[in-house]
Amino acid sequence: MSRARVSGVGSYVPENILTNSELEKIVDTSDDWIVERTGISERRIASPDQATSDLAFFAAAEAIGDAGLQASDIDLIIVATETPDHPFPPVACQLQHRLGCRSIAAFDVHLACTGFIAALHVAEKFIKSGSCRHALVVGADTLSRITDYTDRSTCILFSDGAGAFVLSAGDEASPDGIIHSAIHSNGEYFDAAIVPGGGSRHPQPHSEETKYKILMNGNRIFRLAVTLMSQSIKETLEHSGLTLDQVDWVIPHQANQRIIDAVGRTLDVPHEKMISTIRYYGNNSAATVPLAMDHSVKTGKIKRGDMVAMAAFGGGLGWGSALLKY
Ligand code: ACO
Repeated sequence: MSRARVSGVGSYVPENILTNSELEKIVDTSDDWIVERTGISERRIASPDQATSDLAFFAAAEAIGDAGLQASDIDLIIVATETPDHPFPPVACQLQHRLGCRSIAAFDVHLACTGFIAALHVAEKFIKSGSCRHALVVGADTLSRITDYTDRSTCILFSDGAGAFVLSAGDEASPDGIIHSAIHSNGEYFDAAIVPGGGSRHPQPHSEETKYKILMNGNRIFRLAVTLMSQSIKETLEHSGLTLDQVDWVIPHQANQRIIDAVGRTLDVPHEKMISTIRYYGNNSAATVPLAMDHSVKTGKIKRGDMVAMAAFGGGLGWGSALLKY
């Protein structure tokens, strides 16, 4: 059995910035309200000619380079997204071709904002079983395409971006790599965050444009997010026989600064150890965790050998966590 170690990280965000003051001109809101209630000052929005695979491509290429590998070394691609370029084909197949990878296994997973943790979990299994040596795992979303810019409770949150890891097979006896990962779901709350249309229940064309946009019960999700991410991190640590004192950094899904702070308080983790990039990037769903990781590596916060606990939650509901030594 091999251990899956993180050999490379990368990310990409579009150049276009949507600030709070610009949103003030679109919906009845204010910079003060958004900053106080969410911690977000600005978010990145894809240009009209950019789709999810474009964002994924730049993040993936950077992660492969960071791992010191060529595209031809990759033997598995998993893309987590809820906003693929098309209902099918999967973004992963487009990425495999555009990166110039060999004819390898490539598929998408869809667990909304928890998607990246789910993709990481699956890729880890491939590596552990010996079926692949180098797996490219990408979280990429263009939520701006499914955001209702007449709904002030959601349009202030969402953004576009991509983050990627390369997982490589390492020695099982080595302390580096993914120590434990887990994912969970509870479909009872399936409509707490939902895009009602565009699938087989309400296929396009439909007269109600907003059916194809995100509908969300923010309050309900807020409470569940804090409980489930905290619980998931505790369970992952317990399973690994480790304690929070041994964790250098916690990367929670970047949905709202108040959720990040509440998870920190629940776990009793000091504020400085809670990674937050939400101020400049908002919530780009499956991309937030790998983007925050890459950002923290590039800014010198997270270093090789650090113990990192990650957690995410989102539509489904789905939630999960991963503990790794970087
Ligand atoms: N500007 C000004 N006022 C606003 C805005 C806004 N942008 N949005 C809502 N309000 C108002 C509401 O209308 C309400 O007014 P009322 O009291 O007169 O009715 C008041 O502010 C309070 O509204 P709440 O919904 O209680 O505000 P809350 O503090 O809960 O913040 C928010 C709302 C930001 C959505 C928060 O609940 C949140 O972040 N929830 C989590 C969302 C999340 O994590 N989603 C991720 C999953 S989605 C996915 O998977 C893609």
